[in-house]
Amino acid sequence: MLNHGQYIQGPEVFELEAELAAYTGRKHCISCASGTDALLMSLLAQGISYGDAIFTTPFTFIATAEVIQLLGATPIFVDIRDDTFNIDTSKLEIAIDKCQSNATLIPRAIIPVDIFGLPAHYKMIEEIGEKFNLCIIEDAAQSFGGEIKNKKACSFGDIGTTSFFPAKPLGGYGDGGAIFTNDSEVAEKLISIRNHGQGKSKYNNIRIGINGRLDTIQASILLEKMKIFPEELRQRIVIAKKYSQNLNQYFKCQHVPEGYGSAWAQYSVLAASTKERSICMEKLKDSGIPTVIYYPKPLHLQGAFSDLNYSTGDFPVAESISQRIFSLPMHPYLSDASISEICDILISCKELVQ
Ligand SMILES: Cc1ncc(COP(=O)(O)O)c(C=O)c1O
Repeated sequence: MLNHGQYIQGPEVFELEAELAAYTGRKHCISCASGTDALLMSLLAQGISYGDAIFTTPFTFIATAEVIQLLGATPIFVDIRDDTFNIDTSKLEIAIDKCQSNATLIPRAIIPVDIFGLPAHYKMIEEIGEKFNLCIIEDAAQSFGGEIKNKKACSFGDIGTTSFFPAKPLGGYGDGGAIFTNDSEVAEKLISIRNHGQGKSKYNNIRIGINGRLDTIQASILLEKMKIFPEELRQRIVIAKKYSQNLNQYFKCQHVPEGYGSAWAQYSVLAASTKERSICMEKLKDSGIPTVIYYPKPLHLQGAFSDLNYSTGDFPVAESISQRIFSLPMHPYLSDASISEICDILISCKELVQ
């Protein structure tokens, strides 16, 4: 990359796009500067703006709903399931129906999130999308490598978006993201949007866009990391299995439905109470083992969305899970000894609480 010096939109960017499109089974991959830009650009390509309603989960990173609000559209949150922590499709249909009968906002899209790497329930979501004529944008920021019956994450719905933030399953050495679609017209729009709405030539701008390009240096790094990605993913799956075998009878772990494969961006467990979670996290910390809470506050209770007038009790499942969930160390190079130590400490905490 340093030899050819094409730091912006160099050949590695397009090489990576071809490789990622082939990996996910999508016709087009449009790389971009981050997972947030991937979502923003996807909404821009759909012409989402003021008066539009976008259905999503409150149990996610802020970026998922932030981009909706940024465009003047309205996020409508739908509670999650207590087993997979993904959007509850039975509640999704009710929320869309309600929005339609209120007639103040126009339902336009659904953004399901593949939380912790586990794809959402796309069979149902795609049926609902078709029934109500809504665009489905899969937020696969955490799930690159995940799958449902051998169909890869980023290939569900109309558009899939992912992130190459360093901590993600396919992480770069900085920010990065990508968008996947089979729709050539949408792909063309996205290429224009990522480059200031460029038309046929550099100083011909045909729409409002952004500077959303992936740096060539990140593409070069991601191309190298793709060589070891299948093996790293396999290791994550092995580690998750070991955690589950040790912890299943003591803690509720994320349920992976039959035929689903998680990319295990995070391995998260549910404590019985907030108090039990604090004890577990403290004990692990005492042994130098880090844990993180994803997410301590669901989005409908965040100040950034106060104008939406949600309150405590609106999404009881997401609220209850936020109070009890925590994530354990998860990366492909976690040793058996570390896994055993973590599990032993957690099991001893369970006995301490009882
Ligand atoms: C579910 C979800 N959506 C979107 C994003 C945004 O990705 P990025 O940090 O690359 O902008 C993230 C990243 O943490 C995420 O977890």
